[in-house]
Amino acid sequence: MKSTFGKNLTVSLFGESHGPAIGVVIDGLAPGIPLDLAHIRRQLDLRRAGGEISTARQEGDEFEILSGFFNDHTTGTPLTIMIKNSQTRSKDYEKTKNLLRPGHADYTAFIKYGGWQDYRGGGHFSGRLTAPIVAAGAICEQILAAHGVIIGTHLAECAGIADAPLPTAETELQQTLQAVNARQFAVIDDQKGEEMRQAILAAKQNLDSVGGVLETAVCGLPAGIGEPFFNSVESVLAHLIFSVPAVKGLEFGAGFGFARMRGSAANDPLRMDGDKIITTSNHNGGINGGITNGMPIIFRTAIKPTPSIYQPQRTVDFAARQDATLQIEGRHDPAIIHRARPVLDAMTALALTELFIEARGTAWQTTLD
Ligand SMILES: Cc1cc2nc3c(=O)[nH]c(=O)nc-3n(C[C@H](O)[C@H](O)[C@H](O)COP(=O)(O)O)c2cc1C
Repeated sequence: MKSTFGKNLTVSLFGESHGPAIGVVIDGLAPGIPLDLAHIRRQLDLRRAGGEISTARQEGDEFEILSGFFNDHTTGTPLTIMIKNSQTRSKDYEKTKNLLRPGHADYTAFIKYGGWQDYRGGGHFSGRLTAPIVAAGAICEQILAAHGVIIGTHLAECAGIADAPLPTAETELQQTLQAVNARQFAVIDDQKGEEMRQAILAAKQNLDSVGGVLETAVCGLPAGIGEPFFNSVESVLAHLIFSVPAVKGLEFGAGFGFARMRGSAANDPLRMDGDKIITTSNHNGGINGGITNGMPIIFRTAIKPTPSIYQPQRTVDFAARQDATLQIEGRHDPAIIHRARPVLDAMTALALTELFIEARGTAWQTTLD
């Protein structure tokens, strides 16, 4: 019954959506890492609800570092980040507390915790718990950036509307990631972004919700990070990406497209680029045998439509043990995808830091190449 990930870098998540606070404890950080708190603030702002396309529960997400940070640097002891909850409206959940929300974790949480779980606002299963994850990831993003590693995610698709594709050439890809990272609504093509927003608003007007696909790229990685079999780069990334609520699919490189390709088209030919070995295509998404090959890591994540919708839905009253109709109250996102985007960046940073420490030791965090 633990909410902890990692061996080298341990991340423990705590809190409930309507409790006093949520947060994270990160253990395994090296001493002496300078932290830019403004970067943590920026990433939290990218996840924060805002405007018509997000939930009306709009929290400030002010964070406090309670331990492991002194004189602007990490101390090497467990670093605790806390974010207070302020905009709770728990009465919204009282009337329907016995009605299990279809597509949400109400039923499974009830079974696992035997009814002792805090059900208000989804409790520990709320998307709100992704705020401390973003804060923890923002620390790892800084460690990785000091080693030249850049992570970025765009909304490749939302409500069936596709964004422009990521460029394949690494220099262009890096520029695109930097441009996308500076945006609140992370699209490459503004026109497509506007169409996506309109589709989210239309779904909201119909008391419904929409999903989409996030595409993440990581540039600047050396070859040789990752372990064979159980701690392959794909496995560790998948472990964390699938921990994000509402993630239901993940593919690396050509992913499911490989199933329809021939080897001659699927293989990435190798060539020399100065004294570096590169591939001329990147269908394998930067990973071979579970280990980085020096090309950008590319993966695509399917995000489902928000389960809490305002249409009447068929469900079960678990106290009365009879069929019932649920009419949701409470405040919910008509789409999760734009808010999940910095969460994927954070999870990617946590996974890669874990793998880098495995390959190069704790001191790697403060040893520049
Ligand atoms: C950033 C973010 C925001 C979310 N907001 C909501 C929300 O407002 N309402 C809701 O029902 N689910 C929301 N979710 C999704 C639920 O937390 C998730 O669907 C639920 O815990 C069940 O988990 P599963 O979809 O992974 O099976 C959100 C998820 C994320 C990542």
